[in-house]
Amino acid sequence: MTAVMQARGLSKRFGGLQAVKALDLDLYAGRLLGVIGPNGAGKSTAINLLTGHIRPTSGRVVVDGADLTGAKPWRVAHAGVARTFQIVKPFRGMTVLDNVTVAAMFTGQRHTVHASRQAAMETLDRVGLAGAARLSPTELSVADARRLELAKALALRPRVLLLDEVLAGLRPGEIDPALALIDSLRRDGLALMMVEHVIHAITAVADEVLVLHHGEVLTRGEPATVLSDERVIEAYLGSRFAKRAKEELR
Ligand SMILES: Nc1ncnc2c1ncn2[C@@H]1O[C@H](COP(=O)(O)OP(=O)(O)O)[C@@H](O)[C@H]1O
Ligand SMILES: [Mg+2]
Repeated sequence: MTAVMQARGLSKRFGGLQAVKALDLDLYAGRLLGVIGPNGAGKSTAINLLTGHIRPTSGRVVVDGADLTGAKPWRVAHAGVARTFQIVKPFRGMTVLDNVTVAAMFTGQRHTVHASRQAAMETLDRVGLAGAARLSPTELSVADARRLELAKALALRPRVLLLDEVLAGLRPGEIDPALALIDSLRRDGLALMMVEHVIHAITAVADEVLVLHHGEVLTRGEPATVLSDERVIEAYLGSRFAKRAKEELR
């Protein structure tokens, strides 16, 4: 199996801060890589490096064997890589449908506004937002605003999708439907990377989990193995808690 998207030695330094250090990853069609790590671990920076929103200090980004290191975001998007933003950024003056239509037009695959709008409507239907097509993005709940963000990414007809904390702010009952939707995208053959600060949701959908801590890969592997790793518990909860948890488990 060849990776659709690869990072090799991907690094970013902001002044004195090493935000991401020597990151290697491979994204495969029909598989989901979960990336977890505490706040400030470098998760969003990793996505920004993959999509060209931030230029790496060193390392390489490869899509389908083509080197896209340092390429502009629109070029990376045209190569089939879509992403969502942690802070959603809809066009507030447009309807939900028009927001997705703009994204659909950007693919360059459809030559009329009409065809793009039709594709946008299908995408809204896919994410369960068809009923909100005529609304302003400002009228959406947090969960629906995340669905819109997802629809905008999917309207690009990507082969790779990078999700930045799409579950953040969702109520407990909204998480399972969101995970089911993500899982259905994986089954459709998308290569997925899902960045989450909340760990347990990741185990439900990830084929592989990678833990970032201070910009470095702390550990990676099967979700169950990774999440029972003492170093992971420690990174999240601090060494004192990890020690206590260990003692209590004895
Ligand atoms: N544009 C930037 N300029 C300077 N520092 C940044 C910038 N973006 C992120 N950082 C810093 O890099 C580190 C990683 O940030 P980020 O990737 O947003 O973490 P995460 O998404 O895991 O919470 C943090 O210490 C953050 O303050
Ligand atoms: Mg982040």
